Amino acid sequence: MCGIVGIITNEKRNLLPEIISSLKNLEYRGYDSTGIAILDDGQLKRVRRIGAPSDVFPPKEITEELRVSEEGFLIAIGHNRWATHGKPSKENAHPHFDCGGNIAVVHNGTILNHEDLRKELITLGHTFLSTTDTEVIPHMIEQKIKEGLSIKDAFLDTASSLEGSFGLAIISTDDPNRLLLVKHGSPLLFGVLKNTLIAASSTNAILAYTNTFISLSDGEYADLSVEEGSVSYKIGTILDREEFIKKEATIITDRSLEDMSKGDYESFMKKEIHEQPSVFRTTLLGRFNEETGDAVLGGLIDYEDVLRNAKQILTVACGTAHNASMVGGALIEALAGVPVRNEIASEFRYKKIPLNTADTVLFAISQSGETADTLESVKEAKRKGFKTFGIVNVVGSAIAEEVDAGVYARAGFEIGVASTKAFTAQLAVFYLLAIKLARERGMTAQKGRGLLLELEEIPSLMSTTIENTEDVVRELALRYAKQNIRTINFLGRGIHVPIGIEAALKFKELTYLEAGSYPLGELKHGPIAVIDKDALSVVIMPHDELFALNKNLLEQILSKNGSVIVATDEVGAKNLSEQDVDIIIIPTLKNTLLYPLIEILPLQLFAYYYAIALGNNVDKPRNLAKSVTVE
Ligand code: F6R
Repeated sequence: MCGIVGIITNEKRNLLPEIISSLKNLEYRGYDSTGIAILDDGQLKRVRRIGAPSDVFPPKEITEELRVSEEGFLIAIGHNRWATHGKPSKENAHPHFDCGGNIAVVHNGTILNHEDLRKELITLGHTFLSTTDTEVIPHMIEQKIKEGLSIKDAFLDTASSLEGSFGLAIISTDDPNRLLLVKHGSPLLFGVLKNTLIAASSTNAILAYTNTFISLSDGEYADLSVEEGSVSYKIGTILDREEFIKKEATIITDRSLEDMSKGDYESFMKKEIHEQPSVFRTTLLGRFNEETGDAVLGGLIDYEDVLRNAKQILTVACGTAHNASMVGGALIEALAGVPVRNEIASEFRYKKIPLNTADTVLFAISQSGETADTLESVKEAKRKGFKTFGIVNVVGSAIAEEVDAGVYARAGFEIGVASTKAFTAQLAVFYLLAIKLARERGMTAQKGRGLLLELEEIPSLMSTTIENTEDVVRELALRYAKQNIRTINFLGRGIHVPIGIEAALKFKELTYLEAGSYPLGELKHGPIAVIDKDALSVVIMPHDELFALNKNLLEQILSKNGSVIVATDEVGAKNLSEQDVDIIIIPTLKNTLLYPLIEILPLQLFAYYYAIALGNNVDKPRNLAKSVTVE
């Protein structure tokens, strides 16, 4: 959730523009305050402000405020905070210092035993200036140095007494040529350049400088230093400090700096909505054999037998990724006849589920690959003996590394906090997976081929959907946003239910208004009580065998004076021409199982334009972080 950056170099310069630019590149993950500490001229200097680094850290102003020496300096750390313990304030912003002002710490994660540690430190005479969990860390290090330990041992001993999750970077006047890192549960890595090392909680912070990085695993530390004019690093574990580990560097190939720009779009979210046709094409690329009618998922190749013999599939995910897995579950059940159980990760990890681990396989779905609940669910499932697979977007992320095998979603870099293109990319993987499982269970090559050909048509249908619906949706969103709608619900049946849930989630995230979702057939079992002239129902009902039934329910909403928007195909739209409803027309599909891929698009746009009408920040909605690395 929080973002960490640290730079160490052997070339003295003003590192503030670099550290600020890296902090800006982490801004999309969420922030409420931000801070920097530098080691300049033997002194620790710090600046902390409420707001986003792009707004509150003009490099020139900060350079003047910190009175940066003319020849520059070698070490800096920075942090974007997403408040968990204590309100957003200057005092709570990182870096945090010890009593003597010699040690600066930035932290991503949560320290669960901070209250006990704080009490103990207060009795030892330490003074706390913030209400954060993090502040115990510099004081503990200070205490251990007082007791005679080196900065490195004090840091690693402190790390081993912390419970919870942390990615930590520290610098100290006691050892001004050293930047120390340690990781447990929260992501931490460093980019490697010839004369500079850049530590960060995410590769996005280093991509402007290098595409080569080394990622730390849980329990590992990195000692980055400048000695005899050159930078070097050593990696070890907290438990075995002097036994150094050799780690392979990873090269980022799935993202580039252009992905981090809005191009001609006014927001990342709009860009990412419009990118969905090309993302879908990329996700499918090279992953099927038209001749044999098979989906070819290379990442799962070593587990063919396990998948062929699986009697049940369990999915674990959060938020939008969970909604994608519900669509995926419906597809797998419909095409392959394998029962699927969709679990929300934060529930799964604490639940006792009586499933046979021998014939049930687990799929974890995650855009970031960092979500704490999903990651912990995978670990828990492995402990129980499940085979675990991932559908993950970020290459080399913690979940991608933790699962036995997996398939990358290939959505590219998603910056908008509200997930859009990662959702449809996850759906693309699920369609392929469903075809694969179905072919292994008796689906004919001809049927498989037919489905694959239909999937190939989806990108152009997605483009048509966006082109044909965007103006109508914008007009509807602006109109309803002015109307003071009291409650909004997204309804559908069958495979459209998870799309309604996803549409409601997008709407809530962006508009800050309460929105609900339920299966249309549930209307009369309670929800109809909320329908009146100030209630808006958005009904997803392409023309299928349940259309007449759905139309009947729609009339019941109208009879209670509720407003209705229907998302339907051309046939459905004709059939509803007499009804007093607003209509969003999506292309007609022969295979109704494919509708989720196109019907979500106008609903993402609806949330987007409604939020624009309310004046909200669509790329960084309030209170949200892009990647939820704490529970
Ligand atoms: C909603 C959204 C969240 C994420 C959820 C899981 O727009 O982005 O609901 O889907 O936090 O995140 P990942 O997929 O990174 O595990």
